[in-house]
Amino acid sequence: MNSSALTAAKMRFLRTRFSFPYNLFVHAKFSEKTSKINEESYRNFSSKKNEPFFITTPIFYVNAEPHIGHVYTAVLADSSARFHQLIGCNPVVFSTGTDEHGLKIQQASLQANKDPSQFCDQVSVLFKNALDKCEIGYTDYIRTTEIRHKENVHSFWKILLDKGYIYKGKYEGWYCTADETFVSEDQTTLVKLPDGKEQRVSTESSRPVEWFSEENYLFKLSKLRGELLKWLISGPVVRPVRHYNLVKSWLEHDLIDLSISRPRARLSWGIPVPEDPSQTIYVWLDALLNYMTVAKHSHSEMNVWPPSIHVIGKDILKFHSIYWPAFLLAAGFDPPKCLLVHGHWMVNEQKMSKTTGNVVSPQTCIDIATATGLRYFLLHEGVPASDGNFSMTRLVRIANSDLADGLGNLVNRCCGKSLNPLQTRLAVSPSSFEVCGSPGLELLDLLRRTPDIVYEEYLQWNFYKGIDQIMALVRGANGFFNTMEPWKLKKEGQMDTFNATMAVTMETARVVGTLLQPIVPSYSERLLDKLGVPRENRGWDFARLQSSTADASLGVQETLR
Ligand code: MSP
Repeated sequence: MNSSALTAAKMRFLRTRFSFPYNLFVHAKFSEKTSKINEESYRNFSSKKNEPFFITTPIFYVNAEPHIGHVYTAVLADSSARFHQLIGCNPVVFSTGTDEHGLKIQQASLQANKDPSQFCDQVSVLFKNALDKCEIGYTDYIRTTEIRHKENVHSFWKILLDKGYIYKGKYEGWYCTADETFVSEDQTTLVKLPDGKEQRVSTESSRPVEWFSEENYLFKLSKLRGELLKWLISGPVVRPVRHYNLVKSWLEHDLIDLSISRPRARLSWGIPVPEDPSQTIYVWLDALLNYMTVAKHSHSEMNVWPPSIHVIGKDILKFHSIYWPAFLLAAGFDPPKCLLVHGHWMVNEQKMSKTTGNVVSPQTCIDIATATGLRYFLLHEGVPASDGNFSMTRLVRIANSDLADGLGNLVNRCCGKSLNPLQTRLAVSPSSFEVCGSPGLELLDLLRRTPDIVYEEYLQWNFYKGIDQIMALVRGANGFFNTMEPWKLKKEGQMDTFNATMAVTMETARVVGTLLQPIVPSYSERLLDKLGVPRENRGWDFARLQSSTADASLGVQETLR
């Protein structure tokens, strides 16, 4: 299928909603473990059948519109949520949403000449729509301006206060509004602007910093270094390993107390400190608590705390690996089980930025290659441990060659009326493969090996490797079909071999469709519908050869594009 046909074949949006009965949030005590940290040991941390799985994306700042970097974070989390649902985790709670308070948003709304709450409403819905279009099956879309969130932030603040972790003091130092973070003098650099003036910037992000000197509330972060280290070495809580090592290196030095409020006069757009409305709560404390607000409102009979995985970009590692577990440990809650840190998408090897004008909008990609094409590309090309390079040409090429020409073609050939006039999926068993001789046995071997490898790769966040395995199976099936030449077999009346060829090809396509569900959900749904696979037979247990004794009717869907 060419790119225009691909564009025409826009996938019907499938919004999977997982809903659960309501339950109150209770916390368990964090227990120290000392297992060796390596990629393998993650398996022990992963949720299993009938266990809860709680996964989150970061919540997105509403000062700019969604781009493909945001979508990548969400697609990674979505694919993992869908995979864990397929393997029987229950409940699966999956949250995303928008981060709407803070100086950055206050300034952006001022610049847009809008009231901040109206401004947030407008941009938050853009994120929601973009995520919906990309088939992100979240169970909760949280906005930090919601009442339920404010209530949670207040009750958490009171716990920290009661436990003696908050005190009033004077904060003096550099603040980077674009990053909403405090930076020490040695983390800043003086740069020369084009007009000759000097500007101090954060060395890490190259964004401007300002000097603040004010009264505010401080959090006793310095007291928590030991506890944080214990958490860090308790398992593979930060992945990939190089990010784990980075956090470990941060924890080798003393931590300084953290300012967690700003005078209301300077920052009005935020949650006021309980019983001291002259101060506004620091936006990162407010934002990180979104995960807990979601857990409290997860409508689950089971306690879903602590989060199984926070999916985050590399730029927000410090907030999630130091501040967040420190807040939780101080308040007596379990820290997250795991942080999955991913790299950033670049465009032509350059950072995406409004100033460079190279920001790629998900809608542009969807218009050209469909949401399925975009998801497939991001997961096929994205290696969480490194940065990725985006190219529209490559997106179209990959979606076409793998999905349309590879898998779509396979399904359409064995389901087409010319070879399959009765529109049936024929009964299949290992002997069907044997009937086809060595091409059949080779395919049977590949079909038997693929699901377990894909399972391991998905579990290890190597979606790109899982996809490669699936595509090797698709190529194997297409090669098998071409070698068997079923159109000739039919003409020559070799009906046993013809029927076996058709049965084997359709069975392989069924397994492929089942395995691809976390990656391209609506495409897989249409594929399985086309093959007439009952909905209750789409779990991970069915992602392997299923012998059957009776034929099944194909679905009535049109050609798979
Ligand atoms: N609001 C904070 C997160 C608070 S979570 C309690 C924030 N928002 S953000 O909108 O700036 O970024 C959201 C996520 O998008 C982050 O994980 C960030 O790393 C990710 N990305 C931003 N640009 C990206 C790319 N170019 N590529 C991949 N991910 C990118 O940070």
